[in-house]
Amino acid sequence: MAQEDVFKKIVSHCKEYGFVFPSSEIYDGLGAVYDYGQNGVELKNNIKQYWWQSMVLLHDNIVGLDSAIFMHPTIWKASGHVDAFNDPLIDNRDSKKRYRADVLIEEQIAKYEDKIAKEVAKAAKKYGEAFNEEEFRRTNGRVLEHQSKRDALHQRYSDAMNAGPDLNELRQIILDEEIVCPISGTKNWTEVRQFNLMFSTEMGSTADGSMKVYLRPETAQGIFVNYLNVQKTGRMKIPFGIAQIGKAFRNEIVARQFIFRMREFEQMEMQFFVKPGTELEWFKQWKETRLKWHKALGFGDDHYRYHDHEKLAHYANAATDIEFLMPFGFKEVEGIHSRTNFDLSQHEKFSGKSIKYFDPESNESYTPFVIETSIGVDRMFLSILSASYQEEKLENGESRVVLKLPAALAPVKLAVLPLVKKDGLPEKAREIVDALKFHFNCRYDEKDSIGKRYRRQDAIGTPYCVTVDHETLNDGCVTLRNRDTMTQERVAISDLCSLIEERVSIPSLLKRL
Ligand code: GAP
Repeated sequence: MAQEDVFKKIVSHCKEYGFVFPSSEIYDGLGAVYDYGQNGVELKNNIKQYWWQSMVLLHDNIVGLDSAIFMHPTIWKASGHVDAFNDPLIDNRDSKKRYRADVLIEEQIAKYEDKIAKEVAKAAKKYGEAFNEEEFRRTNGRVLEHQSKRDALHQRYSDAMNAGPDLNELRQIILDEEIVCPISGTKNWTEVRQFNLMFSTEMGSTADGSMKVYLRPETAQGIFVNYLNVQKTGRMKIPFGIAQIGKAFRNEIVARQFIFRMREFEQMEMQFFVKPGTELEWFKQWKETRLKWHKALGFGDDHYRYHDHEKLAHYANAATDIEFLMPFGFKEVEGIHSRTNFDLSQHEKFSGKSIKYFDPESNESYTPFVIETSIGVDRMFLSILSASYQEEKLENGESRVVLKLPAALAPVKLAVLPLVKKDGLPEKAREIVDALKFHFNCRYDEKDSIGKRYRRQDAIGTPYCVTVDHETLNDGCVTLRNRDTMTQERVAISDLCSLIEERVSIPSLLKRL
């Protein structure tokens, strides 16, 4: 099945099974804003718990924070967001559609790369075993022609972006490359303009006395401006970290791909404060630690790769992304940045207050350097769903859709199913739910055949189902069914809790780290 179709199926599965709904759906939705349904919120909370506990429980030098979404507007001046958190946008006059100029050009670069990949695939098929890809790429006329066009465009684009960006040059590239609007098919483009991604609103009641405030575009600044409060009250010694989970808002121009790029989303960020000069060692360490956290979910190492940034932001001295293989290719899920002391120094400058750290070991004061790990909850959610969604043909010729979610993240851990709705079986099943619900999320279901009930639980990723049958009333045992293998075993009700809990708890996942 084409990956595009897989993605469409995942989106409709999310809606059908209560994971993700378009926001304000009865009013036809609101662009790039989504609501999480009854199963989605459980999965999302489990992802957050996995992250939070891996940071705050497993490190005695990392503590949490929950800072406000509204912050003093000068914070965004100091951080550079007021002046530089922009995307270059361009409109097509015929379709009236708006695009990011940089994305249009990047897609054009990708088109050249696709052409090369197609030539290579065609030749590989033609020559079979004897095919030497490296030599083919080096000598084939058509490949060389595409490659040289791609490289020239890439160079011109990089130069334009590095020069401010140079908005006229971006537009000229779009014209020279004859890029057309995908809707109207025309090249009738406006000028390129800078568009700030922050949402703003007014705080205060009177027109005169009100102040323009922003909805935070990242949670990180709340950590920076509180770092000394936390350090002093928590008696933290460098190196130490502050972790925070919270909403962030960006007025994305091109908001596509479901919950991959949203206007309201959630971030899990950790700022790790270190002694200047040690930051690259810590950067390396956090890069490894974070990849390990992703890989512990068990989707396979081939789903991940690093993308080290060649061009760094002016305040960073190292940066990498952890990319995940989504149905639409490898995409950034998490960023790890060595941000030097840029943010703290800026806040010192703009607030006029010293926020230096006094190091009792070296007897000196300094502005710490910062390693940041920043991951989007919603992107993590999408990556987990994409990797878990499977359509399987069964031996009996039927098929099933199953979410092979890591058990610890599954919304429901156990479904308890009475075989029939009589003979005391529902009462026994409810008794089991009532005993286990204090330990993990259980669901009771008595409607439809057992087969249909299994399918319903498979579709939301429930790792275990137990069936209560007539025998249960005599022997105190139930049939435990495993979602992935579909194997069944007879277990005593008294063993259920320990058996399941050790396989589905967040600590079971944390122990793999
Ligand atoms: N404090 C650093 C920072 O915010 P970023 O690369 O802009 O860095 C970090 O964002 C992470 O937040 C991304 O890797 C991504 O997972 C998530 N993210 C960013 N913009 C997003 C959006 N519009 N929708 C969903 N997630 C987003």
